[in-house]
Amino acid sequence: MTTRDRACLVLIVSGMTTSCQEFDVTVYTSPGATCGTYNHLWLSLIGSQSQTPPISVNADQHLLPGSTCLVSVRSNGLLGQLILVRLRLEAQTGLPDVDWHCSRVEVGQRAAGSGAQVFLCDRWLRPADGDVDLRSGAPCLMADETEEKLKQHRVQQLKRQQQLFRWHQFVGGAPQCASLSSMSELGPNLSYTHRSQPTNVHYLKGFNNRPEPWTGLSELETVFAHTGDHNSVARVVKAHWKEDWFFGYQCLNGCNPLQVRQVRRLPPNLAVTSDRLRPFLPKHSSLEEELQKGTVYLLDYEVLDGLPGNQINGKQTYLSAPLCLLHLNQQDQLVPIAIQLQQTPGPQNPVFMPSDPGSDWLLAKIWVHCMDFQCHQLVSHYMRTHMMAELCCVATLRQLPDQHPLHQLLMPHVRTSLQINLQARASLLAPNGIFDQVVGSGLNIIPSLLSRASARVRYRSLCVPDDVSDRGVDNLPHSYYAQDALRIWDALHRFVSSWLDLFYNGDTDVQTDTELQNWVSDITTHGFPENSGFPLCFHTKAEVSKFVTMFIYSCSALHAAVNFSQLDFALWMPNCPASMMRPPPQVKGHLSEADIMTFLPDVNATCRVLMTLAVLSQPGVDFVPLCHYKEAIFTQDAHRRLVDRVQADLRAISDDITERNNHLESSYPYLCPTGIDNSVAI
Ligand SMILES: *[C@@H]1O[C@H](CO)[C@@H](O)[C@H](O)[C@H]1NC(C)=O
Ligand SMILES: *[C@@H]1O[C@H](CO)[C@@H](O)[C@H](O)[C@H]1NC(C)=O
Ligand SMILES: *[C@@H]1O[C@H](CO)[C@@H](O)[C@H](O)[C@H]1NC(C)=O
Ligand SMILES: [Fe+2]
Repeated sequence: MTTRDRACLVLIVSGMTTSCQEFDVTVYTSPGATCGTYNHLWLSLIGSQSQTPPISVNADQHLLPGSTCLVSVRSNGLLGQLILVRLRLEAQTGLPDVDWHCSRVEVGQRAAGSGAQVFLCDRWLRPADGDVDLRSGAPCLMADETEEKLKQHRVQQLKRQQQLFRWHQFVGGAPQCASLSSMSELGPNLSYTHRSQPTNVHYLKGFNNRPEPWTGLSELETVFAHTGDHNSVARVVKAHWKEDWFFGYQCLNGCNPLQVRQVRRLPPNLAVTSDRLRPFLPKHSSLEEELQKGTVYLLDYEVLDGLPGNQINGKQTYLSAPLCLLHLNQQDQLVPIAIQLQQTPGPQNPVFMPSDPGSDWLLAKIWVHCMDFQCHQLVSHYMRTHMMAELCCVATLRQLPDQHPLHQLLMPHVRTSLQINLQARASLLAPNGIFDQVVGSGLNIIPSLLSRASARVRYRSLCVPDDVSDRGVDNLPHSYYAQDALRIWDALHRFVSSWLDLFYNGDTDVQTDTELQNWVSDITTHGFPENSGFPLCFHTKAEVSKFVTMFIYSCSALHAAVNFSQLDFALWMPNCPASMMRPPPQVKGHLSEADIMTFLPDVNATCRVLMTLAVLSQPGVDFVPLCHYKEAIFTQDAHRRLVDRVQADLRAISDDITERNNHLESSYPYLCPTGIDNSVAI
């Protein structure tokens, strides 16, 4: 009999109301090669009535990767219900202090004979953390916490997180980001390694020192033969880039499918009349009739109005804010019928039409694509996916404790956003980064562009069903982005709704979930300007499902749609130049095809853009497909069934998309769920 046993017995014998409890505790270190530590681990058990003093777990052994470490813990009094496992690391002199990745702790109670209670950790811990408390059990709402200590645990956790993660304004008027200035502040819990195959940019690098225009399209064709010929979408782009139907096709299925919208009347500043457009409309029809039928569409880049172009290779470049009218013709093709390159009508701002001399019309279309490139990169890509993901991530860390079911659901989709955005702000969007050096919208205008674009965002436009129906692209025959987006939205929405059903019985549960209400209010306060229509609070479960679906969609599918496609459409540079070297043309009929080259970016500016896109285009080795989860919580019971179902739904969508694409000359692969990353990681 040990001294402790004896002490225990004495207590019982002496007739006190306390009794001993004995526990078998197993500590699991995660299997990754760097997960182990030399640090010393202290552990105590916290019950509803009392707690055990810290005991040493690994006095004479290291916590090796993939290892388990067994200790028995005995309480000297009645612990009551076991609630928390408290861990503390202590650095050892003479040994390196490396972070420890703990998988979980399991605690079995000897007398009880029941299964062990699991306390998930799944995080990096280090001595500087002090006491770290792990809890067991499924996620739950604050209202469902039965133990006072667990309620306090939630409150304490949020307090700590709110000190760690503060809001920071990167650009006034745009969604805020995390106030982190270095990767080390991010810590290992929120960082990841993006490993990818090296890209061969050797050929493009060869052009590094040529700050002059391309001599002609044939020179670009040679470059394309080396860089783009193996890319099937790029080959289609190069084959059809001059054709009007392909211009419209790109509005629906290119890298920026978010811009084109149906209009029921002409914008007042577009200087065309019904008569001038008649030749481009069906016989016996009129503009008024077509507007009414809903066959007229518009691209409006008003957000760029008045912004000065960047200086590239020491030369001024130019931006403008085009308006482009399109018509859905009787062959179901969406074709451009009028392009005005600047917002304010006037004699020096002609409206270009398909009947104009070929070079004039082609340059007008190229011009629109170049302005679309600016909006695509900064608005559709950076703002609508990257900034959105970070907005959601910071609010989730600050307002939803680990134990909240939405913390569990959302973090896998937003966890990587802090790191990638920190890197983007420090490189791509910084002095000497790609925007500064070779993109028409340079550093001096990025803040205005982002804040203007943010002011124009409406909550509806971020929710797929509202967005595609408001823009009238949901029922077009060749509108693959919209079709695929709707199906993915539906699958995600069903998943999110049934996830919520597990935890919220009704709308009242939503209204009384203070953590949830603080979360949405944090997002709306630090997100878009007031009139965006973002909810200030939630009244119903339906509102929550839609909101959560919107974030998951934006971080995964939308990012795939705007990211995967960019290299494909840019490899043939004249289809998508990053800058314009001369101002918008003010007259017609003076331009040869050779002159068009003088508008396009310099040789080394072109190659710099392509090299960056090529690097960004490398698939990560640690790619996680949409709705695949590594976190233990998703493998359990009811959660597992929901995950299985959404994965089956997404597989069915993948199969249909693959089948459809087999029959298309130009396939639309970007929203095939097997290729969608679970989060914004590049
Ligand atoms: C990882 O997360 C846990 C729990 O939030 C925290 O206690 C710990 O400090 C984090 N680890 C690191 C190394 O940042
Ligand atoms: C293009 O080449 C010139 C001359 O070598 C150099 O000064 C300039 O920085 C280069 N531009 C880019 C974008 O690489
Ligand atoms: C971004 O797009 C490229 C293709 O252009 C793709 O290879 C890469 O995996 C994409 N990244 C993500 C996170 O979707
Ligand atoms: Fe991205």
